[in-house]
Amino acid sequence: MYRDPVPAFHQPHHSRPSAIRPLRVGMIGIGTVGEGTFRVLARNQMEISGRAGRSIELKVVAARNLTRAAGIVGESIELTGDPMHVAAHPDVDVVVEVAGGTGPARDWVLAAIAHGKHVVTANKALLAVHGTEIFDAARRHDVIVAYEGAVAVSIPIIKALREGLSANRIASVVGVVNGTTNFILSKMRDEGLDFGSALAQAQTLGYAEADPTFDIEGIDAAHKMALLAANAFGTPVQFAAVNVQGISAVQRLDMLCAEQLGYRIKLLGVARRAAQGVELGVQPALIPATHLMAHVNGSMNAILVNSDAAGVTMYYGAGAGSEQTASAVIADLIDVARLAGTSAAQRVPHLGFHADAMSALPALPHAAVRAARYVRVPVRDPAQMAPLSAWLAQQGLPVRQMTLASLPLEAGPQLLVLTDPVVQADFDRILHALATHAGVSAAPTALRVEPLAG
Ligand code: HSE
Repeated sequence: MYRDPVPAFHQPHHSRPSAIRPLRVGMIGIGTVGEGTFRVLARNQMEISGRAGRSIELKVVAARNLTRAAGIVGESIELTGDPMHVAAHPDVDVVVEVAGGTGPARDWVLAAIAHGKHVVTANKALLAVHGTEIFDAARRHDVIVAYEGAVAVSIPIIKALREGLSANRIASVVGVVNGTTNFILSKMRDEGLDFGSALAQAQTLGYAEADPTFDIEGIDAAHKMALLAANAFGTPVQFAAVNVQGISAVQRLDMLCAEQLGYRIKLLGVARRAAQGVELGVQPALIPATHLMAHVNGSMNAILVNSDAAGVTMYYGAGAGSEQTASAVIADLIDVARLAGTSAAQRVPHLGFHADAMSALPALPHAAVRAARYVRVPVRDPAQMAPLSAWLAQQGLPVRQMTLASLPLEAGPQLLVLTDPVVQADFDRILHALATHAGVSAAPTALRVEPLAG
C-alpha cells in the first residue's frame, strides 16, 4: 500500500490554522501500539486536525528503553523513564496509556485522572479489572476515559454500542474478538499448521499479548466481552463473572468433524440477556459454516449485535495490529479534542449509560447457561450408534442429530452428536456418565454450538 512519507511533527503547513490551542498529549509506552499511534498522528496530521478542530501534539513520552524511543519519536519530544512524570506533567491535557498490564497502569491512570487529565487507553485488561474504580474516579474529576482501542481494535464497536445503537434494547453481543486465536484457528484449519507454529507467527506479526496465555486461554477475549457487555446492557464491568475457556484443547479432528456437520470452530465471545441475568462467556464454539462470522479469518474480528429496533448488525475489521489499534486511539483523542471543556452531562457516559441508570442485572452462573452442544464420542464399534442414541435420550439429552464421522481409518470410529439447547449442569452430568459407558472407547469431546442470528 502506498503511503506518503511521514512528515515531522508540528509542521505549520500541515496543521489547520485554529484559534484553539492544540491538545497536548503525554504517552505512556511506545511499543507496538504507541509506535503506530505516533506514526499515524504524524502522517495524518491534516485530516486529524481538520476533524478535531485543532491540532494534536505529542509533548512527552514515557518509555522503558529511551534509546529505542528516541529512534521512533526523534529528539524534539521530551522523553522520560517515569510514567508518573507524564501523569502529572503540567503541559499535558490527555494521557495516552498504551503500556499494558494492570498494576502499575492502574496507578498511572488514576494519577493522571487525579491531576485532571483525560485518559485514552487501549488497555482492556486494565479496564476489565479496574474499570469500576477508574470510571468512578473519572466521574469525580470530570474527565474522559476513552478506550475504543481496547476492544476489537480497528472496529468502532464502543461507538456503535454507545452512540449508533443508543435507541435500542440490546439482546446479545456475540463475536470473534481475539485476533491471535482467530489467526491460529484459521492457520490450523486452512493450512494444517500445528498450534505452536501458528502462535509463533502471530507473535512475530505483533498480534499476541506480552503474555500469549491471555490470548490462548481466552482471557483477552473475556476482558473485551466484559467491556462490551457493560456497554450493551448498562451493567458494571463484570470480568470475574465471564466463564472462560480458551483454544488450547481444540483439536484439528474436531475442526474436520465440525466441517462435516456444516460448522466451523471459532473462539466466540457471548454476552446475552437472559430471563434471570446476563450470560457472559468465551469458549470455542461451532458456528454455521454459511454464516458471515464463519468467514472471519486470520487476525480479523467481527461482532454481531442483536437489538430490538435496529435488528441484527455486524461489524468487521482487523482485531490486532499496530496502526489498526492506533486508528482507535487517535479517534478517541479526536473526541477528547472536541469535548474537552464540556461537562460530563454533555458527553457520552463511559459505559454508555449514566451512572444513576446502570442496571443491576447479575451475571448468570455457568451451570445455568442453556446452549446447544456438539459431542464427539469415540466408540468401540459403529454399531453402538443405536444403543447410545437410546441411552442418551433416556438420560434426557435432547439429541437433534447423530451420525458417524467420516475420518481417516486411524482416527477410529467416532459418533458425532448435535443437541438442542440444554442447561450446562444437566449436560455436564450426562457427559460425565457417557465417558464411562461400556460402548465408549475414550473421553468424549464437547463444544458449544451457537446458531447465530442474521
Ligand atoms: N492480543 C490481542 C488480540 C491484541 O490478538 O486480539 C488486540 O487486542
